[in-house]
Amino acid sequence: MSSKEHHLVIINGVNRGFGHSVALDYIRHSGAHAVSFVLVGRTQHSLEQVLTELHEAASHAGVVFKGVVVSEVDLAHLNSLDSNLARIQSAAADLRDEAAQSTRTITKSVLFNNAGSLGDLSKTVKEFTWQEARSYLDFNVVSLVGLCSMFLKDTLEAFPKEQYPDHRTVVVSISSLLAVQAFPNWGLYAAGKAARDRLLGVIALEEAANNVKTLNYAPGPLDNEMQADVRRTLGDKEQLKIYDDMHKSGSLVKMEDSSRKLIHLLKADTFTSGGHIDFYDE
Ligand SMILES: NC(=O)c1ccc[n+]([C@@H]2O[C@H](COP(=O)([O-])OP(=O)(O)OC[C@H]3O[C@@H](n4cnc5c(N)ncnc54)[C@H](OP(=O)(O)O)[C@@H]3O)[C@@H](O)[C@H]2O)c1
Repeated sequence: MSSKEHHLVIINGVNRGFGHSVALDYIRHSGAHAVSFVLVGRTQHSLEQVLTELHEAASHAGVVFKGVVVSEVDLAHLNSLDSNLARIQSAAADLRDEAAQSTRTITKSVLFNNAGSLGDLSKTVKEFTWQEARSYLDFNVVSLVGLCSMFLKDTLEAFPKEQYPDHRTVVVSISSLLAVQAFPNWGLYAAGKAARDRLLGVIALEEAANNVKTLNYAPGPLDNEMQADVRRTLGDKEQLKIYDDMHKSGSLVKMEDSSRKLIHLLKADTFTSGGHIDFYDE
């Protein structure tokens, strides 16, 4: 474990599911000696519970931990996106200031775009209304563009390359096989994940000279609530059988196996920026 590494991590969708697992594994496996977290979500109470868990994990792992909660952030509501982005930015700035006053300067800033929704998997594209498409994309794509743009501007201003040549910036999107392969009934989900993948591909090119890397990580079919929703709502019988069989045979991916793989990829830092990596990839 490096004694010099101090990471500032912003993550959304952290109160349950994959985001929760990623946050815990970041503390356990990132190799950083100190981590400062901004936990973004909708419910104060559940975010505070996660904060307590992260404190415990950090103390167990011997990691210096500081965390703040930015709650009541509904990423589907674009009317409040600007004010929510300002609150997230301010929380990150406070953590940076605190780090600067200690001897633990931030060495890496990471944004995890994890929150996401399925859309209505009972429908095919001809059944969608443009209104539901817009509402889906507002949350899953537009708010992500806002977050990425705020994060990059803020981080690159705080750590200009000339002054901080060793500071690294990473943007992660939790992606899916659907970003690279089409299946029936996944119209909005697939369109959203493909758009997110491509946006991070563009950022990788635009900001390569600023020590910025991006990663689209597809975590595999996870054994969690979202996957249970897939089994409840998916309209395509053929895929439904595959997911049902995986569930019954216990072959869905354990969240902790997938989050550990993601954190190891970030730690090794050998991934191609802007690319798409799947849990099942070698
Ligand atoms: N599960 C899978 O098999 C699977 C496979 C491939 C990719 N993924 C991707 O992995 C990511 C995490 O999914 P998951 O499996 O952990 O799903 P999940 O258990 O349904 O969790 C989704 C998270 O997103 C948050 N969220 C939902 N709507 C939101 C909104 N309007 N504003 C802010 N936050 C909101 C939820 O917060 P609340 O608790 O407040 O609702 C929750 O923390 C998603 O991007 C998903 O597409 C999942």
